[in-house]
Amino acid sequence: MTWQDVVPETWAVGPQGVEVGGVPLVAVAEGVGTPCYVVDRRHLSERLARFERAFGDVGLAYAAKAFWCVSLAELIAGTGWLVDVVSEGERAVAAAGGIGPQRQVVHGNVKTDRELEAAIADGVYRLVVDGPDEMRRLVAVAAGRPVDVLLRLNVDVAADTHPKIRTTGAAAQFGMTVEQADDALAQVVDGVTVRGVHVHIGSQLRQPRLHAEALTAIGHFVEARRQRFSEVYDLDVGGGFPVAYLRSDVVPPIEQFADAILGACSEFPTARLIVEPGRSVVANAGVSIYTVVSRKEANPPFLAVDGGLSDNPRPSMYGAGYEMVLANAPTDPHDSPFRVVGRHCETGDQLGEALLPSRAAAGDLLVMAATGAYGFSMSSRYNLLPRRPVVFVADGAFEVAVPGETLDDLVR
Ligand code: LLP
Repeated sequence: MTWQDVVPETWAVGPQGVEVGGVPLVAVAEGVGTPCYVVDRRHLSERLARFERAFGDVGLAYAAKAFWCVSLAELIAGTGWLVDVVSEGERAVAAAGGIGPQRQVVHGNVKTDRELEAAIADGVYRLVVDGPDEMRRLVAVAAGRPVDVLLRLNVDVAADTHPKIRTTGAAAQFGMTVEQADDALAQVVDGVTVRGVHVHIGSQLRQPRLHAEALTAIGHFVEARRQRFSEVYDLDVGGGFPVAYLRSDVVPPIEQFADAILGACSEFPTARLIVEPGRSVVANAGVSIYTVVSRKEANPPFLAVDGGLSDNPRPSMYGAGYEMVLANAPTDPHDSPFRVVGRHCETGDQLGEALLPSRAAAGDLLVMAATGAYGFSMSSRYNLLPRRPVVFVADGAFEVAVPGETLDDLVR
C-alpha cells in the first residue's frame, strides 16, 4: 500500500510539520498536551460514505468497540447506519449521541440479566443471542414481551489472522455450533422473534472469500430451517475488514469485500444483509501524538515517549506495527533505526521499531499513524496514567471530543 492508505485523508506537511484536518499537530500538542489522539472528521465521513457506495442498501452497523465517543455517535446518528454495541456503556454513548435503541444491535457473549432486561425494555433493533443458555435466560427475562433476536453461529471458516482476533473454531468462546443453535431455537417462545443469523469470524481478514464463505454457511443454516424464520430474514456477516497499518501491508479495498459478500448473498433472495465494520471505518482516521522524553544509546537507540501500552495496547498484545514520523520534522530524512518504547513498567511496552531522523531526541513530537481503532477504546490506567484526550480536527480547527482525565479523576 502507499502512505496515503495508512494516514488520514487530510494528512499534509506544512511549515510547522505534519497537519491533519488543516491543523498542525504541534498546535494540537500545545493545546491539549501529549499523548493525545487526533481524529480526522473528514476521513470518518468519507469512509462511511464509501461503505454506503460499496454495499448499497444493506444494514450497515458500525462496531462501536473500535472507537466510541459522543462526537462519533453524533456523526453516525446523522447517517442511516445502525450501531453494534456490547455494553451498557456503549449503549449509553450511542444514546447520548442520538442513536436510540431502535438502531442498536446488541452483541456480546456475556449479557447479564440486567442488560437483557434493559435491552428488551428499550426495544433494541436486534439482540444477538450467543448460546442456548442465554436464550433460556432471555426467554425468562422477556416474560412474553417482544424481542427481535439473531443467533450467533460459530461457523467452521478458517480465518487467517492473529489467533487473538480469530473468533471461530473450537478455541473461540463466541457463538454456537449448529447443534447448540438448534437447541437455542427449540427454546423460542411467543414474543421472541428470530430475525436471522449472525457470524463474525475475526478481524483483519485479508481474503474476501472468507466473508463470502461465512455468509453462505449461515444462509444455508437458515434455508435448512425455513419454517423457523420469516420470509425475509437477516444475514449478519459481522466486521473484520482489514486496514493498512504499515505501507508494506497489502489489503484489498472494501469494494472487493462488498462484491464477494453481495455475490454470496444473492444466493439467498429474501435475505437482508447486515455488515458490522469497526476498524475499517476509524483506524486510518486517527493518529496518536507523543513527546519524546529521552533517548538512550543502544543498538538501535531507544526513544522513550510519554505514553505506551496504556494508550495503545496493540503492539504489546498483538505485536502490531505502526508507521511513525517526527511530526515537527517530517521532511528530515527518516533513515536511522530506533526502538520506540513506552513509559510503562513492562519490557513488553515497546511501540515498535521505526526509521526516524538520526538526530531524534527529547522534545521531538512523534506521530504514530493508524491508531484510530482499538487504541483509545482499549486504553487503561496502568501505572495510574490518566486516560488521554481525543481531539477531532476539521477545516483548520480542532475540538476536544473527549477530555483527558485529571489527577482528581485518578484519585477518585
Ligand atoms: N462485529 C462483532 C460481533 C465483533 O466482535 C467485532 C470485533 C466487529 C464486528 C468489528 O470488527 P472489526 O471490523 O473492527 O475488525 N482488539 C482487537 C480487535 C478485536 C475485535 C473484536 N470484535 C484489535 O485491536 O485488533
